[in-house]
Amino acid sequence: MHSSELHLPDYREQSPAVADRFRRIEARPVILDVRNLRKSYEANGINHTVFDNVSLSIHRREFICVVGSSGCGKSTLARIVAGLDESTGGEVLLDGTPVTGPGPDRGMVFQGYTLFPWLTVKRNVMFGLKMGGQSDSIAEAEARQWLDMVGLSKFEDSYPHELSGGMKQRVAIARALANKPRILLMDEPFAALDAQTRGQMQNYLLQIWRKVDVTVLFITHDLEEAAFLADRILVMGANPGRVMEFIENPVPRPRHDDQFLSPEFLALKKRLEEHIHPSSAGNHDHIPMIKMTDAGDDVE
Ligand SMILES: Nc1ncnc2c1ncn2[C@@H]1O[C@H](COP(=O)(O)OP(=O)(O)O)[C@@H](O)[C@H]1O
Ligand SMILES: [Mg+2]
Repeated sequence: MHSSELHLPDYREQSPAVADRFRRIEARPVILDVRNLRKSYEANGINHTVFDNVSLSIHRREFICVVGSSGCGKSTLARIVAGLDESTGGEVLLDGTPVTGPGPDRGMVFQGYTLFPWLTVKRNVMFGLKMGGQSDSIAEAEARQWLDMVGLSKFEDSYPHELSGGMKQRVAIARALANKPRILLMDEPFAALDAQTRGQMQNYLLQIWRKVDVTVLFITHDLEEAAFLADRILVMGANPGRVMEFIENPVPRPRHDDQFLSPEFLALKKRLEEHIHPSSAGNHDHIPMIKMTDAGDDVE
C-alpha cells in the first residue's frame, strides 16, 4: 500500500487553504520513502510480528509525527530508518537509496540524554563534525552557530550535568543538526521533561525547523504534541503494529499555544484519541477494587 492511498481528503475538502498547503508539500521531492515495512522476530521458537505493511513517504521539510500506543513499534520504526535495526521485509529509501546502516544523513535525538558527559557542550556539538574530518576551527565555528540557534551560546563550556533536561535536549538537537542530516529522527525526545518545559521545547523545535532545511520524523505518544508539531500524523495500531491512518493536520502554521483551543485542533485531537483510546461502548470491564481497610471509615 502506498502512502497516497492513506490520505483522507476530508480536511482538504473542508478548507481550500489546507488543500493548498498539502499540494505545495506534495510538490516537494520525497526524502524518505518507507515501503511495506515489516519487522518480526523470533523468541522461544515463536515468530512475533512487531509491525507489518508500514508505508509512508515524507517530503522535503515536512514534519511528520508518529503516534500509537506503547508497543506498536514506533521506536523499532525509528531504529530501522536510523539503520540501527534491520527490517524483515519491505524497504526504506533515503533520497532514493536503500538504507543499509547508520549514516550522517540521519540525525537522531532520543528520550534519554545521549550527550557525552565528559565533553563540554561545544565539544559535544563538534563531535560529529570532527568525525566527519572537519578541522578544529571549522568544527568550532559551526558548533557555535548551532548553539546560537538553540539559544545556548552562554553554555558552550559547560558540561552536560550542569544543564537542565530541556537544555540537554537543545544541545542534542544542535549536535544532530550540526551534521546537516537529510532527516532528523526524534523518538519521544521531550517525554521525560515536565509539561512546561515540554511546551517550550515544542516551540523551540518549530522555530528551529522553520530556519533549517531539515525533514523531521518525530515519534510521540502525546497526541497534543503531535497535533501541535506535525504536518501529517501517522497513526499506528498495535497487535500487530500497523498503519491505521495518515492524517493531514489542518491546523495552520505558524503554530502558537492559543491554537490548543481552536476547533481544528480539538477536532484533530478527538480523531487521534478515537484511534488510540477507542471508546469502549459495551465494555463493562472495571478495575477490581481491593479493600485496604476494615476500619469502617468509608470515605466518600
Ligand atoms: N528483536 C527483537 N526482539 C525482541 N523483541 C522485540 C524485538 N524488536 C522489537 N521487539 C518488541 O516489539 C515491541 C515494539 O517495540 P517498540 O518499537 O519499542 O514500540 P513503541 O516504541 O511503539 O512502544 C516491543 O514489545 C519490543 O519488545
Ligand atoms: Mg518507543
